[in-house]
Amino acid sequence: MAIGGNERAAKAALEWLSENESASVQRLIDWLAIPSISTDPAYKVEVKRAAVWCAEQLREAGFKEVEVCATGESGSEGHPIVLAHSPGAPDYKGPHVLFYGHYDVQPVDPIELWESPPFQPVIREAEKDGPGRRIVARGAVDDKGQVMMFLEALRAVRAATDKVGGGVKFTVMIEGEEESGSVNLDRFVREKRAALKDCDVCLISDTGMLARGKPAITYGVRGLAYTEVTLHGPNQDLHSGMWGGRVMNPNLAMAKVLSRLHDEQNRVTIPGFYDKVVALSPDERKAWDALKFDQGEALKKIGLPASSDWGEKGFSPLEREWARPTAEINGIWGGYTGPGAKTVIPSHSNAKVSFRLVADQDPEEITRKFFDWFTKTAAEVAPGFRAECKDLHGGLGVTLPTDSVHLQAARRAIARACGTEPALIKTGGSIPVAGLLKRELGISTIFMGFGLDDDRVHSPNEKFELECFRMGCKSHAMFMDELMRL
Ligand code: BES
Ligand code: MN
Ligand code: MN
Repeated sequence: MAIGGNERAAKAALEWLSENESASVQRLIDWLAIPSISTDPAYKVEVKRAAVWCAEQLREAGFKEVEVCATGESGSEGHPIVLAHSPGAPDYKGPHVLFYGHYDVQPVDPIELWESPPFQPVIREAEKDGPGRRIVARGAVDDKGQVMMFLEALRAVRAATDKVGGGVKFTVMIEGEEESGSVNLDRFVREKRAALKDCDVCLISDTGMLARGKPAITYGVRGLAYTEVTLHGPNQDLHSGMWGGRVMNPNLAMAKVLSRLHDEQNRVTIPGFYDKVVALSPDERKAWDALKFDQGEALKKIGLPASSDWGEKGFSPLEREWARPTAEINGIWGGYTGPGAKTVIPSHSNAKVSFRLVADQDPEEITRKFFDWFTKTAAEVAPGFRAECKDLHGGLGVTLPTDSVHLQAARRAIARACGTEPALIKTGGSIPVAGLLKRELGISTIFMGFGLDDDRVHSPNEKFELECFRMGCKSHAMFMDELMRL
């Protein structure tokens, strides 16, 4: 019977992964060596090279239909999206799975803090009471290393079953603009609607585990609204001696405005900000408490004492990260920031302000409300100044039902691969495609990620521990096996 056959094939796939691990890691190293920084136009050619490289992996895994698709419009081209399809075995009855990942990476700065060059991947040995054996490079865990788990699982199940993806019907979409806001993705998804709308569920491997050795399925990500605001004062920079005391300093005005973003409870003060926030259920609160998250320990790792805990009053740290919206000032600049001193009142002041959103907050609506609030508050604080507001990008958050057959299949897969039941967690991070797929095509996502919270995502010395990579490869292979049984 098929199930017995599957059992043998599953075992063979796991064996393949163990026996071929050094080749798997070497392939990852080759990919990581390509500096695919999507936000910086200087890397355009490299970004494309990373896409082509990835397309080739899919071909080697047996995909016959693989395309490196251009995005954007002529004059404002985006980075390519790798789109591939495998029809599945003739007797396949399980879901059509859309695998999504991203091959682009964040910029490397501050470069001087890297212990080895970001695009010369190295393997570092385990440290006592520290990280395990790991691969260090930009993109190691976010997201090339995690996409690689899927690619290697494809190779393994093909070796074991002689079928592409083990016989699962797959569409694969790997983009190159996730780290810069997926600005061309909406349009691409609409254009490829015919190819994508047949998918039943999306699988994303771009999140983390509960802790080392504690795998997890993530059932929710937050949304994001990202903006840039400027306060324009005088039409020129001024001598601070001649004008100091006679005109308001735009940097001071900006500081005053932004200091009003939060109230005494650390709640965001923008009118209507919380209108569409869904209250936490008592069950969810109980389940999260049971995870025994240690905020003191987490703060210690980032060099802060327990007394520095900060956030919206009335919610635990996990609740604040997973289920409450926030406002962040990502950067403030204006006037003189070079070496030495310059006595100046700048003509304007700038800030990057972003919001993490939870269901059902809409990024465009929140951005509009923020701009109204900013303009009004600026007029109160600095009469006569002009507020300029730019919407940079946004994405919807999602929360998924935890009882779907797909999620349960992922759960069994991880339990078989790792020998331990995965925790059900959420994350405060954002993966814009999930909300987009839900809204445009009604497709839900399963997030099966294997990162650790000290992986230095987006920071110097980003790493991916080989034990996590191993667990991820096996879990993806077992997921294919579970899908075949549905
Ligand atoms: N993989 C991350 C999202 C993530 C981070 C999930 C941490 C789980 C834990 C993703 O690549 C990312 O960085 N997303 C951006 C959003 C984007 C619009 C720039 C983010 O969350 O800031
Ligand atoms: Mn990512
Ligand atoms: Mn990222």
